[in-house]
Amino acid sequence: MVRYLVTSALPYANGPIHFGHVVGAYLPADVYARTLRMQGEEVLYVCGTDEHGVAITIGAEKENRAYGEYVAHWRGVIKSTFDRLGIRFDVWSGTSISPCHAELSQDFFRRLDVGGYLLQREEEQLYCVNDARFLADRYIAGTCPNCGYPEARGDECPRCAKWLNPLEFADPRCKVCGSRPEKRKTRHWYLDLPKLRDEKLGAWAKEHEWKPNVQTFVANQLAEVEPRPITRDMQWGVPVPEDRARGERGKVLYVWFDAPIGYVSFTREWADARGADWQSWWRSEDTRLVHFIGKDNIPFHCVVFPAMLYGVKQGYVLPWHVPANEFYNLEGRKFSTSQGWYIDLDEFFARFDADAARFYLLSSSPETKDSDFNWKDFQSANNVLLADTIGNLASRVLKFLEKYYEAKIPALSPEHAAEFDRILLGECGAFADPGVAIREFRFRRACEELAANARLANVFVDRVAPWSLRKTEPERAGAALATCCEWLAVLAQWMAPILPGKAQKLWTMLGNLGEVAEQGWPKLPVAGAWRRGLSGQRIGQVEGLFPKLDDAVIQAEIDALHRRAAAKA
Ligand code: MF3
Ligand code: ZN
Repeated sequence: MVRYLVTSALPYANGPIHFGHVVGAYLPADVYARTLRMQGEEVLYVCGTDEHGVAITIGAEKENRAYGEYVAHWRGVIKSTFDRLGIRFDVWSGTSISPCHAELSQDFFRRLDVGGYLLQREEEQLYCVNDARFLADRYIAGTCPNCGYPEARGDECPRCAKWLNPLEFADPRCKVCGSRPEKRKTRHWYLDLPKLRDEKLGAWAKEHEWKPNVQTFVANQLAEVEPRPITRDMQWGVPVPEDRARGERGKVLYVWFDAPIGYVSFTREWADARGADWQSWWRSEDTRLVHFIGKDNIPFHCVVFPAMLYGVKQGYVLPWHVPANEFYNLEGRKFSTSQGWYIDLDEFFARFDADAARFYLLSSSPETKDSDFNWKDFQSANNVLLADTIGNLASRVLKFLEKYYEAKIPALSPEHAAEFDRILLGECGAFADPGVAIREFRFRRACEELAANARLANVFVDRVAPWSLRKTEPERAGAALATCCEWLAVLAQWMAPILPGKAQKLWTMLGNLGEVAEQGWPKLPVAGAWRRGLSGQRIGQVEGLFPKLDDAVIQAEIDALHRRAAAKA
């Protein structure tokens, strides 16, 4: 049977995550996993922090903290943000603590070496005389030779996402002391990507179905791929295995080599804890491996990691889909903590609802092109699409039942059901199964459909007007309200992956027991065959689902953002 192995890019354990990360790699994965589960699929959702490499050591050194303690701190902080957002992993770990991670990473290295996919070369690298060490990756800054971005990093350019060789910087500087490094020789291992491309990757990538924004990137990357260095002169990281080190000392695996192996080691950690078989997830043709990532991670997930998975010749699956997103900005500018251009998520969650945020983030997500978090749009998504549409439908129907029907869902004759099916399903507007869009990784569309599905029922209520019917045709009025309750129940199920908290609240308000997420996925309603049969059920406590956000509250956020940015500038 098909299984879905879902991963989100392992965030670096060196700082808080922001909405750009959330919308890029975590929230869509969470919604995807929740939806598939409701549809009865077997799903494993794997994540944890990326804890090696220069992004970590620089951060820890700045604060004078031990590496292990530093990453443990951020591992916890990041996890608590995910918890507040309702992002639920099956396993959450870290690359410096997962029990089999180092050993498995070394095993990958060993097998690639034995298989003839590694080259050992002596090359010049930048060395800081002042700090007496080789400068790896982010220890070097300079101007990107590709796009001219002045703050490019030694391994890649954060603006154009191109892989860089720091020897090509005209103006390299040491990130620690600021001095200009010199060139010195050192020996390193390189992953023979051209060979892996010619043997397998090239053909695989060509016949693979990528998102259009990923397709071009992968094709270009493969065309010009060169061997990539996969070891570094550092202390913090997974050591090059002794038996393959050929006398070299003080070298560790490059963070981008060990990090994606984390997906496998965390799966093993999860499986070992429950006596399950990790190999049936990673080494089975039935597995559909889906990597949720941001745009800057495309090369590693579409080229390097697949090359590694293939090169170890252990029957690993290659990715089935890599739904990479473009960049997400804040009010027209890049998120930047140092420039004060960010949203503090602790403050955010103290004032705003996590489900409303999930809905807005997905409905504005950068699926095909860069997009923005915009405070006014957040307000209108909450007030118009959630409060006025879904919330309004629930409260007008349920409050009326409370008031005039002793809080019970009224009876429904087959004649009235047929009549209302004709009106609701045929004449009130379009509706759709958002699960279809979600399976196609079209989360914006799924949000639009969710709102449309509620809008249609509001049109139905306006048309049938049970308020005035109640006196003249009480049974028909009751039947119309019962139809609305049935629709609300379907709506709650459709809402569950995107708005898990509110969906549950709505479910309970309808008087239903249990977890909405455990009800399975509703089929698209067709006349005569979609109601659960709620008539006679006592509804629960009726409360507002989505409090509206006032202009003043939103304006205060916008002002605070600009004030903070001005203070930093
Ligand atoms: N830590 C990397 C980043 O934030 C992502 C690593 S993804 C993995 O860009 F596959 F390597 F784990
Ligand atoms: Zn660049």
